Amino acid sequence: MKVTFRIFRFNPETDEKPYYKDYEVNADPKDRVVDVLHYIKNEIDGTLTFRRSCLHGICGSDGMRINGKNMLACCKTLDIRIETKLIKSQSLLNHCLGCRL
Ligand code: FES
Repeated sequence: MKVTFRIFRFNPETDEKPYYKDYEVNADPKDRVVDVLHYIKNEIDGTLTFRRSCLHGICGSDGMRINGKNMLACCKTLDIRIETKLIKSQSLLNHCLGCRL
């Protein structure tokens, strides 16, 4: 299935403001979000960076906002009900900063 990943991007050295960038990929519904992020990084855009470590739902380092909810990218498969086939991924950093303010 074709899925669009809309990913929150920001490079403080080159970008004035954060922005969303869309990546259209062919993916299997059984793929995990983190697998697709790896595919995007390795095959489409090497500038994409994200945190992850164990890939087994233990460490929590790949916590992200995915379609508006906090999730572990290594635990979430694409078979979540996606009417629009759009995965919106965003680092939890902004969310956590917002909580502290
Ligand atoms: S990478 Fe460790 S919980 Fe997902």
